[in-house]
Amino acid sequence: MPDTNQSASGVRPLLRVSNLTRRFGGVVALDDVSFDVAEGERLAVIGPNGAGKSTLLKLIAGQDRPTFGTVSLEGAGQISGSSPRHITRTGISLARQVPRPLRSLTVSENVAVGIAAAGHRGHGRAQHRIEEILESTGLAGKAGRAAGTLPLLDLKRLEVARALASAPRLILLDEVSAGLSESDLFEVIELIRGIGEQGTALVIVEHVQEVVKQLAQRVIVLNWGRLFAEGTPESVADDERVREVYFGARDADAIETVPRERPVLQPGQGLVLRDVVVKRGQHLALNGASLEVPAGSVTAVLGPNGAGKTTLSQCISGLLPVAAGELEYDGRDMRKVPAHARAAAGIAHCQEGRKLFAGLTVEENLMLGAFGKRRTERQDLAELVLADFPVLHERRTQVATTMSGGQQQMLAIARALMSGPTLLVLDELTLGLSPKAADEIYEVLERITERGTSLLLLEQNAERPTRLADQVYVLSHGKVVFSGAPGDLSQEDLVAAYLG
Ligand SMILES: Nc1ncnc2c1ncn2[C@@H]1O[C@H](COP(=O)(O)OP(=O)(O)OP(=O)(O)O)[C@@H](O)[C@H]1O
Ligand SMILES: [Mg+2]
Repeated sequence: MPDTNQSASGVRPLLRVSNLTRRFGGVVALDDVSFDVAEGERLAVIGPNGAGKSTLLKLIAGQDRPTFGTVSLEGAGQISGSSPRHITRTGISLARQVPRPLRSLTVSENVAVGIAAAGHRGHGRAQHRIEEILESTGLAGKAGRAAGTLPLLDLKRLEVARALASAPRLILLDEVSAGLSESDLFEVIELIRGIGEQGTALVIVEHVQEVVKQLAQRVIVLNWGRLFAEGTPESVADDERVREVYFGARDADAIETVPRERPVLQPGQGLVLRDVVVKRGQHLALNGASLEVPAGSVTAVLGPNGAGKTTLSQCISGLLPVAAGELEYDGRDMRKVPAHARAAAGIAHCQEGRKLFAGLTVEENLMLGAFGKRRTERQDLAELVLADFPVLHERRTQVATTMSGGQQQMLAIARALMSGPTLLVLDELTLGLSPKAADEIYEVLERITERGTSLLLLEQNAERPTRLADQVYVLSHGKVVFSGAPGDLSQEDLVAAYLG
């Protein structure tokens, strides 16, 4: 029935979301949300972590069912309650933040699977269609490569290619640009823009504002599951209420970097890497890197995707072996020390991609972070950590992997803190966080450093880490190409490193 409804402009909408509601026990993830998407429109959905954005996309794509309300697609009628397969065939596809291709299949086989799933048969036509899609997503030269061997940018392209395989009328994009460095980000923006120009409607969920600004014609803001505001990218960014709940009230000009002395390494304290080489297969992921994290300091390591930041963090925490060079913590040679003993020595590592324990609750995840400590100590630590993360306190009994992307990120950080570390290594800590939540995490970090913990921040984005850091390193192709005070880091140094 909603199919026959006309929108205000008299044009029949492509998608109509009516009173959509999803409850999980006492949590109202989506609360009576209604909106339309016009044929070929590019709509962005923004809002704080846990506001209901991913839930909304899952309900539209049929991966979850509403508690109340409906979704209808022009020509197909009501689709909510149908299977994901049926919804794909009516012309809606979903691209996710973390691409999960079939890793042992080639790039073109992955697209073929997508085409088959959409019910388009006939080999000859499919082959032609695959080539077309690979061409338009910039993957033509990599058709025969195993998907599992692709770098991040190509994985994102493949995720978009898979979404295109069903020849959709509407693509839902859930934080597709998360984790990309700036130059890769612009490639993905251009790719998505191209798809939009072909007339495919887009619903874009993003925390990366550049994507919203460049691609969206209209923005809706969700907050606590409710439709909170609506407008153009500009009007929404200027809306005081939206700034308060989402962007954060901070005024970029008001931020000062406090000039600080660059900390000096005291003998027998802190972390030292000298000419460290780490291999991943045949590839030298770290190729003679030297750096120091003096006790009590905040050190930022910046660099684009693939520069070696994750490798660096993993060799510090003991997940990857050091092939050559020296690694010391508090005066002790760490090269042969296993990961669990490094944790006991005070090194905590919060990994990119969260790595939470599936099936366990928030509280259980936290307690495992304090593994080996006495009960009373664990409880004291939990008290301290939960005071900094009220949302985790509220959700103590929720299964960790059902939390929103940003909530999971906060849990990963909180769990790392539960070991009471003297050095906390944080890999891409703001990934998936709303602008306001990212600022709040940085405030938490400031408090943590005041308690004497050293921080090593590995980030692509320079802005927030350079505000907090005492010293900065820039990594490029496994080597340190800059080291100094944040104030000495010029835009040129960064650009040079990021463009290789
Ligand atoms: N299976 C579930 N059980 C309990 N609560 C859930 C479940 N799935 C989602 N939620 C809750 O619903 C709310 C909305 O989550 P959703 O993933 O839609 O947020 P989001 O807007 O995508 O956030 P983010 O920006 O952090 O990705 C969150 O509070 C989340 O914890
Ligand atoms: Mg989400």
